[in-house]
Amino acid sequence: MCGIVGYIGSKPGKDIILRGLEALEYRGYDSAGIALLDGEKSQVFKRIGRVNGLVQEVEDKAGNAGLAIGHTRWATHGGVTVANAHPQMNSDHSIFVVHNGIIENFSELRQKLEGAGYQFESETDTEVVPQLIDYYLKQLPSFTAAFEAALNDVRGAYSIVAISTREPETLYAARLSSPLVIGVGEHENFLASDPSAIMEHTKKVIYLEDYDVAVITKDTVDVHNLKEDKHISPKVELLDYENKQALLGDYPNFMLKEIFEAPAAIRSATLGRAVAEQNVVKLGGLESVLGQLKYIDRIVIVAMGTSYYAGLVAEYLIESLADIPVEVQLASEFNYREEPFSRSTALLAISQSGETADTIAALKKVEDYGVLRLGIVNAVGSTIARMTDAGVYCHAGPEKAVASTKAFVAQVTVLLQVALCLNDGRSKRFKPLIEELNKLPAKAQVILDQADAIKTIAENYADYRDFLFIGRHTGFPAALEGALKVKEISYLHAEGYAAGEMKHGPLAMIDEHFPTFAIATDSPLLEKTYSNIQEIKARKGPVLALATEGNEAIKELCSDVIYIPDTAPETQPILQVIVMQLFAYYIAIKRGNDVDRPRNLAKSVTVE
Ligand code: M6R
Repeated sequence: MCGIVGYIGSKPGKDIILRGLEALEYRGYDSAGIALLDGEKSQVFKRIGRVNGLVQEVEDKAGNAGLAIGHTRWATHGGVTVANAHPQMNSDHSIFVVHNGIIENFSELRQKLEGAGYQFESETDTEVVPQLIDYYLKQLPSFTAAFEAALNDVRGAYSIVAISTREPETLYAARLSSPLVIGVGEHENFLASDPSAIMEHTKKVIYLEDYDVAVITKDTVDVHNLKEDKHISPKVELLDYENKQALLGDYPNFMLKEIFEAPAAIRSATLGRAVAEQNVVKLGGLESVLGQLKYIDRIVIVAMGTSYYAGLVAEYLIESLADIPVEVQLASEFNYREEPFSRSTALLAISQSGETADTIAALKKVEDYGVLRLGIVNAVGSTIARMTDAGVYCHAGPEKAVASTKAFVAQVTVLLQVALCLNDGRSKRFKPLIEELNKLPAKAQVILDQADAIKTIAENYADYRDFLFIGRHTGFPAALEGALKVKEISYLHAEGYAAGEMKHGPLAMIDEHFPTFAIATDSPLLEKTYSNIQEIKARKGPVLALATEGNEAIKELCSDVIYIPDTAPETQPILQVIVMQLFAYYIAIKRGNDVDRPRNLAKSVTVE
């Protein structure tokens, strides 16, 4: 969603901020802005639309100030206007604030400030922050004290960075339920909501924790935790981030690049973990809790979007392989449910970014229950990775396109290994599945080699308005994920259904204008899916089937067929989804959409 970059040092801050904002573009935003401070001289540039709309103006007009903050805004409170873009300022424009998150009590604070004579220029929740700092500055001895007093008034989630003409040598930062990282340099320091914005300058980082307030000069970082009211010795960590993976290379966009990284994602997710020669699954991240896991008799999975669908696949895998009951919940629902939760239940959070607000809130909800909290996370060092007791990284590398692709592939690959790990070699499926995981990258490549054929088929479907995706068993969550891919990048109506549900309602929608993408790969349930396809054909619905190589008979039943290599039932969803990612991608491209940055969406949903 929104993105923050900050810099203090002796280089031209504008260059660092613009580069950083460009690196954050993938998160989704609708306006951007920068504030620069050179002693008491300030400059602010704000624009609706892309960062590149800001570049020329900044390059032409901005000085070489060494104190700067920048922001990409994804509108929540107030429309997409220049006035609502960040930085937000106090009335005399001496305090500049960028903010990610939501200030829940902003109208109450705004009323209080208006009562004290303050006037507001924007519709944002953020504007109360510089105004509040200004308000407290009139009563308190220092900017730090005023900043902290303002934070004490604010309810909600935030990462906030502030600068002021009154303190032109200092960056002020605070975090509560929204990520913020300090990049430590030589006589310079950086700030960002996502390390990718600063990693070209430094690999040394300090992750701020909830309630931390940082006062940063070019040579010092001072952290005070507001809740505990104590000074913290900041822990400097080294970023473990592959820069080249975040670059586009020869691909036209990140989504296609990331779909094509599926074989590499599977390889990295299994490397040194599923070892066929030794017939073992070693998940280093779970080793410290293996003893505890023996006493777990129920797992609740929480996640959102694509990660939720990966969780639904895992439900089938863990229940059948490890014999442990699993319940999968949307984190946003879990957070407001009252349900019995015993100590022998583990909470497992799945997240690509590790920064999804609802999933973080789910982990916080059970913080005091004394239960085991596990994470399956892609982004190394992210909030969820740091707040869980143990977990497994997906190692898919940075995912930049808003639509999640290789992360799903890696998540299911990791979750299958978690199921095998919990199974501890007891099932007959253990050895064949480890062997199959080792063969899977090559099978994923076979699908990618058919991309042109999938493109031709997808383009023939690009003019339909509606799509149904159906599947059974793990093909059901795979169908949900296929429908989500079409929705988010094509803006077309698509629904995922369990094939067995057809006669219970969805069949009524079917006619010659409503195609069905039927997941009909080899399985003991295939004949039942054939019956569903027959029912759809009888109502003149076009059917595109996804089948296992060698199934010639299905051609008689369907308008089109795409084949995947034969694989185990447990690994089928991984291959099925790659086809649906390509299908959705080519439809969206044919319709002229920006696949990396679909409208209204953000990569990482850091507010509720
Ligand atoms: O970073 P997370 O995996 O926690 O994100 C969860 C969802 O926001 C995410 O999967 C979203 O649905 C994607 N845009 C799907 O492609």
